[in-house]
Amino acid sequence: MSIVEQEPTTATAEGETHHGTLIPRGQDAVPRSPLFEGRFGRMFRSLPAPRHDRDALIALGKAMADREAPSGDNPKIPSAYTYFGQFVDHDITFDPLSELSKFNDPDALTNFRSPRFDLDSLYGNGPSGSPFLYEFAKADRRGVRLLEGRNPEDSPFERRDLQRNAQGRAIIPDPRNDENIIVSQLHHAFIRFHNNVVEKVAKAQPALKGAALFAEARRVVTWHYQWVVVHDFLPRIIGEDLANELLPDAGEPQLRFFDPREGAFIPVEFSGAAYRYGHSQVRPTYDLNDIVVGVPLFSAAKTADEDILGHLNGFRPLPALWTIDWRHFVEIDGSQPQLTREIDTQLAKPLLKLPGSIDGANTGLPVLNLRRGKALQLPSGQAVAQAIGATPVSNLGLDRFNLSAAHRAALEAETPLWYYVLREAENAPRNGQRLGPVGGRIVGEVLVGLLAHDPQSFLRQQPTWKPQGLKAVKAGHFTLGDLLRFATIGQ
Ligand code: HEM
Repeated sequence: MSIVEQEPTTATAEGETHHGTLIPRGQDAVPRSPLFEGRFGRMFRSLPAPRHDRDALIALGKAMADREAPSGDNPKIPSAYTYFGQFVDHDITFDPLSELSKFNDPDALTNFRSPRFDLDSLYGNGPSGSPFLYEFAKADRRGVRLLEGRNPEDSPFERRDLQRNAQGRAIIPDPRNDENIIVSQLHHAFIRFHNNVVEKVAKAQPALKGAALFAEARRVVTWHYQWVVVHDFLPRIIGEDLANELLPDAGEPQLRFFDPREGAFIPVEFSGAAYRYGHSQVRPTYDLNDIVVGVPLFSAAKTADEDILGHLNGFRPLPALWTIDWRHFVEIDGSQPQLTREIDTQLAKPLLKLPGSIDGANTGLPVLNLRRGKALQLPSGQAVAQAIGATPVSNLGLDRFNLSAAHRAALEAETPLWYYVLREAENAPRNGQRLGPVGGRIVGEVLVGLLAHDPQSFLRQQPTWKPQGLKAVKAGHFTLGDLLRFATIGQ
């Protein structure tokens, strides 16, 4: 008898590669044993999994949407960080191994690439393995610059976009980076960031040519990106105190529960629950620039004519005038960007019905997350709190929902990890601004641990390295705002 519930499926139109529907190898497999190894593994192996009733999870998930008032804004986190979080997820869960080798090793037990912050979702297999991503026409930049797409002047699309095929699909290593217009524009910004770094490096070191120029530019890009992950993004998500505890200025990273020394892996507690905190930050609408404002995440319109405001669904060319002005998403030169929503137990309503899902199919994002947590046999929030020595949350807020007494009692006794992480963030003193002890510990140890055990990372290659050479608001530091500014302006 299987003790694992059937995997929920993310209902999308056939062929759509939603972030999440391209489930990395290992995570889609029903776990065979708590000692399961490979790309995915466990952080807390000895903790038991609650055996919640499926209907209890569906009832809770359906209730986790905006109620009378939508979630407030998080004054500490501009909205570019939501999609940067998604971009990071894709980088560490992407494996550009050929389909053939995946087929030969479906469980990724031996033949898989370690999850790393190496931007393989941007660079693919490099200029020789993925030549379609690279410039080969201009002699002095052959195999050095990444290719952008260009639309003709008179087309209904923006001039600059990702490269796309005749059917509008982006030609990029990881199709998930095209699933919505914000993450696809962020991918585009990384292409431009790389190309601007190439020109900067070429000017500073004219002797570098071809493969050597590419390698140096890729190193500069990757190290600055890694810096942003652990020194800008992470402290905003988990708080500066915990970030500094995990990654002290001097000395070794301090990890207590995540030990990737035998081979890096992604713990299911991270991918199945804690890192999904990002779903609660998603806004229902976004302003893309000064002109195109209030664009809904998904469209509820049945026909193109009804679809006056458009929507942010990806997998299509960028409509004219829709180029993102990043000053609306992150602070650049004193701009006042849109903020993420608070990290809490309320998700924006559109996430209750994902594009392509069938009405009433129970495939809203909160339900999927809760059912995925059960299928992955994640421990309860309380069990993890106890394991890390934190006081379990007493005010779980489950009485706000219309749940049966039996369901409520069961969910209160052993709270699903994803809900628990969000509730912990929502409660005082964090008030939705950052993750709490359980969520912060899981997210922080995994992000720091993956970097600390990557032999190519700046932490391993040059532990005292600080960002240099690219313009930054604060010398020796580098933020997502600095990165997007340099990507756009090039200086
Ligand atoms: C518009 C925004 C987003 C949408 C529509 C979306 C949708 C989804 C869907 C449908 C899944 C699969 C659910 C399942 O069947 O288990 C998923 C998984 C996941 N999402 Fe999101 N997501 C969004 C943004 C984010 C953000 C901002 C983060 C983190 C900062 C995030 C983190 C994750 C993680 C870690 C997973 C599981 C692993 C993976 O497949 O990558 N997502 N998401």
